[in-house]
Amino acid sequence: MTDLLKADQGQDARTIHLVDEDSFADWKKEQPQRLRTLLDANRYEGKQGYQWMVLPGEGEDDWSVVSTVANVDELSPWCLAKLGEELPEGSYRLAGDKDPGPAKLGWILAQNQYCRYKSEHEERGDRTLLTSSPADIDRTALAAEATLLVRDMIDTPTADMGPDRIEAQVREVAGRFSAEVEVIKGDALEQGYPMIHAVGKAAARAHAPRLIELVWGKEDAPRLAIVGKGVAFDSGGLDIKAASGMRLMKKDMGGSAHALALALMVMGRNLPVRLHLLIPAVENAISEESFRPGDIIKSRKGLTVEIDNTDAEGRLILGDALHKAGEEETPDLLVDFATLTGAARVALGPDLPAMFANDDSLAHGIATSGGNVGDDVWRMPLWDKYDEMLSSSIADMSNSAQGSFAGCITAALFLRRFIPDCDWVHFDTFGWRPTAKPGRPKGGEAYGLRATFAYLEERYGQ
Ligand code: BES
Ligand code: ZN
Ligand code: ZN
Repeated sequence: MTDLLKADQGQDARTIHLVDEDSFADWKKEQPQRLRTLLDANRYEGKQGYQWMVLPGEGEDDWSVVSTVANVDELSPWCLAKLGEELPEGSYRLAGDKDPGPAKLGWILAQNQYCRYKSEHEERGDRTLLTSSPADIDRTALAAEATLLVRDMIDTPTADMGPDRIEAQVREVAGRFSAEVEVIKGDALEQGYPMIHAVGKAAARAHAPRLIELVWGKEDAPRLAIVGKGVAFDSGGLDIKAASGMRLMKKDMGGSAHALALALMVMGRNLPVRLHLLIPAVENAISEESFRPGDIIKSRKGLTVEIDNTDAEGRLILGDALHKAGEEETPDLLVDFATLTGAARVALGPDLPAMFANDDSLAHGIATSGGNVGDDVWRMPLWDKYDEMLSSSIADMSNSAQGSFAGCITAALFLRRFIPDCDWVHFDTFGWRPTAKPGRPKGGEAYGLRATFAYLEERYGQ
């Protein structure tokens, strides 16, 4: 993957001229007549986003590229992605030795194809982008790797990405950084993690529920806990989903993929934290072992939860994991990712993850970082007055609020009842891109990942 970015040492490469609506006219004026004619004949007006054209040079096999971006002075991560996808094999550099900056990420991602289940696919040679700031190469490659990890884990069907495979993915990442992994699974969860056990116990043995924990870093460093919802498939349980609602539910482990990817970035950049990753991984399946509407489960924390709807399973497994995250020592910061509610998608659409935080400067910090790195998030309120919607007449609380209002808020308030007394941010993410964009195929997608990592670098960076 690092072959896609290289330090610019003056090697042979084709030039990419970037123009925007403002600079196009001036740039065009400087071009020889025959190129201006070519541009006009192709109706290349420097307007449409990411439009590009090959410009022939003087000699044989001599050509460069012109491409329109929104703003040449503020490149986005995606402004070179279409080129990365479509240009022929070879090396490229931006005109005027301009550094591609954040656009390096899109360039890499554009060259990845998920072809695990395609019998045939076209092998395309590498398109290498030269950069004058080689220090960025590793950092960008890591962000790309983390993003692809999220996408690939989500795209992989449940038969090949069950709780067992989620565990294997965690072990693989842990191995690279000599992190410790501990897994509690199956019936062993019944005592300590009753909600994880209840949700996951209906699944086949190979997909037995488990709590996967990874620990890494110096013991005296600030504790960073990351938790992710790992529902390998969400059938809804006995409150079975309709076909349309179930169709994409292989993605319900998207939170665990985000959590693992964030952990990968933290370890890959060697952030000075004591990392504790917790992934409750289950399949919300239907069998004679299924938990039922009306069941009451006593959580790890001791709170009793009446099951109003077996489809509100994510908050149950997260409740036990969030409580565990604060048990030995209170974290400095607790981050969780979950494909928790359809309501978050209804409110904000698929591309903007709902963020909940119990601290204003934390929320502001992540939102700001997200804006800086082109990974926007939107804060939603943990509105105390809705907390009563979670009440149950016979248990401490219900797992699903009465009425169908403010679904992502009441879900976040449910989680809040299980967190330790520390800074906490929760992402209710869709984890899925419904329509492709350059560098971003339809399918699993990471949202809020780079925003959070950029914030962590600010908060803990050396
Ligand atoms: N995994 C779903 C949430 C979901 C649905 C995320 C669609 C993205 C797209 C979750 O487990 C769920 O089913 N939530 C229910 C909660 C309800 C039963 C209180 C929902 O959102 O409808
Ligand atoms: Zn569900
Ligand atoms: Zn779910």
